Amino acid sequence: MIRTPFGVPSAPVVFGRLAGSDVVFLPRHGSGHTIPPHRVNYRANLWALREAGVRQILAVAAVGGIHREMRPGRIAFPDQIVDYTWGRASTYFEEELTDVVHIDFTEPYCPHLRAQLIAAARRADLDAWEQGTYGATQGPRLETAAEIRRMARDGCDMVGMTGMPEAALARELELSYACCAVSVNWGAGLGRGPISGELIEANLRTGVTRVRRLIESLLPGLRDARPD
Ligand code: HPA
Repeated sequence: MIRTPFGVPSAPVVFGRLAGSDVVFLPRHGSGHTIPPHRVNYRANLWALREAGVRQILAVAAVGGIHREMRPGRIAFPDQIVDYTWGRASTYFEEELTDVVHIDFTEPYCPHLRAQLIAAARRADLDAWEQGTYGATQGPRLETAAEIRRMARDGCDMVGMTGMPEAALARELELSYACCAVSVNWGAGLGRGPISGELIEANLRTGVTRVRRLIESLLPGLRDARPD
């Protein structure tokens, strides 16, 4: 296990090769999927990935669909974020500073990596939504119907619990970071009846197959482009 100045990551990083490329995998919820979103040590995870030599991160995340384009089973590459999380360690820049640091976060995801994801999805003939605003909620509970209506008014197209502070920390470390969101349910109040675990599982399985095809299409031509 890699130790970091910010504690221990969710799991040991796994090194491997996929579609002819070196890849590193880190499950943010832990190897046995036991770490809830608000307890993930995002700082340690991103730090460990950088220590492992990673320069580009594809964050795969399950989300609830809010926009009608975000039907369950579909994947999306969001381009914006609204952050509703609270109380999470969300910056590396808070101690031993010689000056206050404010990262630019106008474009929260790396545009170069996003463009390559979009191209990879088209090559693989995957039905991906190539945009969207990711609303990051605190969890671990799902939202109320009124919260989802408020998020829609705020311009959120999908809702998940892990997108922040992960994206901001990646930017602080100058890592190229983009998200592949997998819609696994309609946001609360938008589908029929309550959100069930079985429904989420079924859509996750479909989504993960698509994510695998996406990665196999992405990797062979992947260029390393750091955020500007
Ligand atoms: N809300 C928040 N996070 C989620 C959801 C949801 O409906 N589905 C999957 N992750």
